[in-house]
Amino acid sequence: MQAITVRDREAGVTGLTLEDLPRPHAAENDVIVRVHAAGFTRGELDWPASWTDRAGRDRTPSVPGHEVSGVVEELGYGTTGLTVGQRVFGLTDWTRDGSLAQYVAVEARNLAPLPADVEHTVAAALPISGLTAWQGLFDHARLVTGQTVLIHGAAGGVGSIAVQLAREAGAHVVGTGRAADRDTVLGLGAHAFRDLENDRWEDAGQVDVVFDVIGGDILDRSAPLVRAGGTLVTIAHPPTVRPDDGRAVFFVVEPDRARLAGLARRLRDGRLRVRVGAVRPLAEAAAALARRERVPGRTVIRIAEDEG
Ligand SMILES: NC(=O)c1ccc[n+]([C@@H]2O[C@H](COP(=O)([O-])OP(=O)(O)OC[C@H]3O[C@@H](n4cnc5c(N)ncnc54)[C@H](OP(=O)(O)O)[C@@H]3O)[C@@H](O)[C@H]2O)c1
Repeated sequence: MQAITVRDREAGVTGLTLEDLPRPHAAENDVIVRVHAAGFTRGELDWPASWTDRAGRDRTPSVPGHEVSGVVEELGYGTTGLTVGQRVFGLTDWTRDGSLAQYVAVEARNLAPLPADVEHTVAAALPISGLTAWQGLFDHARLVTGQTVLIHGAAGGVGSIAVQLAREAGAHVVGTGRAADRDTVLGLGAHAFRDLENDRWEDAGQVDVVFDVIGGDILDRSAPLVRAGGTLVTIAHPPTVRPDDGRAVFFVVEPDRARLAGLARRLRDGRLRVRVGAVRPLAEAAAALARRERVPGRTVIRIAEDEG
């Protein structure tokens, strides 16, 4: 099968290469998915799991891409809840070959059924952003109706979903980003926007929850904004600061079939929008993912041409 691989850690995205690899085998609890579309997370080549397996052994050449949408090709021993020929989408395992390939082996529990009227190229942009936004807002920060949430990077992959989910939950939503992101963020449903580069955004008043995707100085400056009993949640790196009378939480997204299915229903019903930017074939994936200039929305790689 054709796949994108990486071998050289120093090269980063410039080392992405198209090559032929053997098709993966289904281990116990695995599903083989014929990949229709794949998502790649900026920064994933910095994760140790992109280079080593669970025992810390070198696993290069490794196939990147941790978001998949496709069709079940084969079921391994012990899989439940899925059938051959079914449309599915979800997360691939961090320490195994990923979705930038014609076929991928994924643990069945990481996948959810994909409704017939949601395109693979849209679904492939949802698993990491959607689950991260959900888990950050509701599992870790325990956001409830009537609270105020400040969402950094609100025009990005995770932030744009978080704005929509927080709004749906009845929160007062303040989004941040670059000046050019203002209309996008307000269009997603935020009640207010703060420009991180030009506004005195810390003067905006206290909030119940800060959801950070940027880290560094922006994360540090956010801690004093959290009111008593509130939560600062970040997906960037473990925080070195915390609110005076609140929690600071860093987490890594986890697979969740039921939650993915709920996110897919929202997409189908038009209650949730995913910002897909460029859609490119596998042959152009290396160039598209290594591109330096920013394209609004997620870059998705289309791998099978037919809409199965
Ligand atoms: N822990 C986890 O489980 C987890 C899960 C998913 C993602 N992540 C990580 O979380 C980060 C965000 O992911 P994402 O997919 O949402 O990325 P993304 O699509 O690039 O979104 C980040 C957003 O923040 C904006 N931004 C970044 N730095 C900024 C700054 N200094 N000032 C103003 N705006 C800034 C970006 O604007 P520009 O595009 O203009 O720079 C973009 O709109 C990534 O580092 C990713 O690896 C972690």
